[in-house]
Amino acid sequence: MSEDKLITTHQALIPTLPSPDADPAVLQVWGGSSLQGHVKISGAKNSALVLITAALLCSEDCRLRNVPSLVDVTRIGQILVSLGVKLKQQDDILNINASTISKSKAPYELVSQLRASFFAIGPLLARLGSACVPLPGGCTIGARPVALHVRGLQLMGADVQIEHGMVNAHVRGNRGRLQGAKIYLDYPSVGATETLMMAATLAQGETIIENAAQEPEVVDLANFCNSMGAKIRGAGTNTIVISGVSRLHSTDYSIIPDRVEAATFLVAGAITYSEISMSPVVPEHLTAAIAKLQDIGVQVVTEGSDCLRVIPSHNLVATDIETLPYPGFPTDMQAQFMALLALSEGNSLVSETVFENRLRHVPELNRMGADIRVKNNHAIIRGVPLLTGAPVVATDLRASAALVLAGLAAQGKTTIQGLHHLDRGYENLEAKFLGLGAKLERVPQSVAIANDAFSPINSDALISS
Ligand code: UD1
Repeated sequence: MSEDKLITTHQALIPTLPSPDADPAVLQVWGGSSLQGHVKISGAKNSALVLITAALLCSEDCRLRNVPSLVDVTRIGQILVSLGVKLKQQDDILNINASTISKSKAPYELVSQLRASFFAIGPLLARLGSACVPLPGGCTIGARPVALHVRGLQLMGADVQIEHGMVNAHVRGNRGRLQGAKIYLDYPSVGATETLMMAATLAQGETIIENAAQEPEVVDLANFCNSMGAKIRGAGTNTIVISGVSRLHSTDYSIIPDRVEAATFLVAGAITYSEISMSPVVPEHLTAAIAKLQDIGVQVVTEGSDCLRVIPSHNLVATDIETLPYPGFPTDMQAQFMALLALSEGNSLVSETVFENRLRHVPELNRMGADIRVKNNHAIIRGVPLLTGAPVVATDLRASAALVLAGLAAQGKTTIQGLHHLDRGYENLEAKFLGLGAKLERVPQSVAIANDAFSPINSDALISS
């Protein structure tokens, strides 16, 4: 057991943040090994980020369990610390005490690195009656605007000004308390639903969010808030009703398992023709991924209530995928499935409808021998019998997982640059794969170059191309 850590500064909190590195690490993956065994699935990144933020709503102790150790989680913790919140961490348990929030302004350098931290505007406004949060800025997978968040807060009585890249929100009158409102979202944005649900928790009266996001992480947030005494109904449907309460009380709550991580390991079994099992999972959260694996020819069986086993097939067949809001096929699993479809016989069409710039892994997969063409938001994939290891660059979080999967299936060695993406969202990915018998190793780039004349790719040139 590690000792409790009281986190009161910008340092600490699992894991320590990487500093800009003149000799960044690369991941070397040797393909062709068969995997076997069992993987423990971590707590959901996207739940953890928003639940930690929601703890701002509560002036008593909140205990969160099953918190994954990730760079993004570290960053959100640092933002809370910068606002005066006390965090204490022990293993995967995070104790949060937001009895005192000394600032309502979130620091630019932290928010700019992590879009989810913008969601803090909801609880800050609800607790303090004012909030100042930087616009999250551009993102590699798309513009990711916040107009839906802002419009909803305005309907709840906030005066919102956007100046010099900052979103300044104040509740005028009503003693600084937000008012319940009827809010229709033009698009079922996960983040907007979460921001507005958190804001409405402490508002006066009833808020109805229509065309709300139905993702499991939205339900997890509602359950967490309800465990603190909030009154939220309908989470998981497209209409969420929140009856505001005046304060929330202490709680002890466990985060749901990460469905994206679980789907990544399901694809790992399929792409390496290996039988592996994983738990804990909530099988219903993976319905779309499991259905697509079945279309491709791979069976997934449920063992008990929270364990899945992937039964591989050597006859992988093409299928079409369109990313959609939940319960549709998740955009966060698109890149990993594309790696699998690259090796599935026939032609597949992958349509990315959620984010406008989320096919940047295609040139990297093609570098490994895949045959994929992009037209607008569609990728047309002609299955090939073999991928070959190559130097590649991770272009975003899920793309980096797709390259690891492709590398595990490819002939020879794949060297992956851009690991800061991977570290944002997968806890101990390498250790988990090593435990299944995969061959992979993280080494400094200079070592990879010295060992086998590996030539790093100029990733800046790649991004602008
Ligand atoms: C969350 C997830 C992310 C996932 C995404 C979609 C977190 C921390 N991140 O991101 O992993 O890929 O859901 O499942 O939970 N949009 C607008 N206006 C807005 C807000 C969003 O037009 O005000 C658009 C976005 O540009 C995007 C689409 O809505 O095209 C979906 O975005 P959204 O559901 O908000 O994603 P995030 O909450 O940012």
